Amino acid sequence: MTHRPKILVTQKVSDPAYPLLEAIGDVEANQEEGVIWSYAELLRRGPGHEYIFCLLTDTIDEQFLKACAEANPRTKMIANMAVGFNNVDLAAATRLGIAVSNTPGVLSDTTADLAFGLLMATARRIPEAERYLRAGKYTGWGPLLLCGAEVHHATLGLVGCGRIGKIMARRASGFDMKILYSNVHRMSPEEEAEYHATYLPLDELLQQADFVSLHTPYMPATHHLIGERELGLMKPSAILINTARGPVVDEKALVGALRRGQIAGAGLDVFEHEPAVEPELLTMENVVLLPHIGSASLQTRALMATMASDNLVAFHKGQRPPNILNPEVLEKA
Ligand code: DGY
Repeated sequence: MTHRPKILVTQKVSDPAYPLLEAIGDVEANQEEGVIWSYAELLRRGPGHEYIFCLLTDTIDEQFLKACAEANPRTKMIANMAVGFNNVDLAAATRLGIAVSNTPGVLSDTTADLAFGLLMATARRIPEAERYLRAGKYTGWGPLLLCGAEVHHATLGLVGCGRIGKIMARRASGFDMKILYSNVHRMSPEEEAEYHATYLPLDELLQQADFVSLHTPYMPATHHLIGERELGLMKPSAILINTARGPVVDEKALVGALRRGQIAGAGLDVFEHEPAVEPELLTMENVVLLPHIGSASLQTRALMATMASDNLVAFHKGQRPPNILNPEVLEKA
């Protein structure tokens, strides 16, 4: 009889994921929508499972991985349903011979849509205007009522220009924006022409952009990439958009910059200590705050869940998981 692995799914995900997993193993799944297991709960439930289907809200650190490996030496794979994998200690997993996969690509358009929506919402004060109307304050059209910043023909600075950053550049082209980018790798001249994007070192980009939109992964090198010094370089009229990862921005420094009027506003889908938000941000009208919904369309979340499952299924069948992050573990297996 073929071996049926034990599979743990740590949060309720889109329906199509389950039959794929049930076809290869015995699934234990958190079925309570919106319930995120604490680290202690994860540590209690994880060990014993060979495959873990997890989310960016799960801390998959060395302690957890070791506990799983000790409880069941067959523990072999972590499938993270997110493109970002800063919640997983990849080095520790690799040392323990545990494969890790993520879900790149399927969420890029959806996340860029949200990033551009957040830029529009912040620039044109859309949530503030809606709050104003719902509060019964709208007594008639006014020439100075809720005037915001112009988006078309403004300068967009993309910090990070990988899959999502490039799609953001496409969205911005439709609004006749001037596009600047800063990235570890400079694009080829052909690609720069395709995306109408001009490369600039980060400091210069920050000085010139009307909108700074972050699209870098989170890693030690990008921790507080935007801090007090960088915020100080931005124009007083500039708006910061973050749909990447919270700790890319020093959130306390951001609060200070907004309070002093050093920048004009911020649109944030991610937070440094998610789900906690710096309390002062909640009081600021020039800040738009979202609960990390960059990839949250029904179709995209189903694609992400299917992709994470497909990675586990491929691994189970002895194939190379399409989105494996540490292929070296396959060579050792
Ligand atoms: C990711 O995938 O990393 C996003 O933050 C959630 O979709």
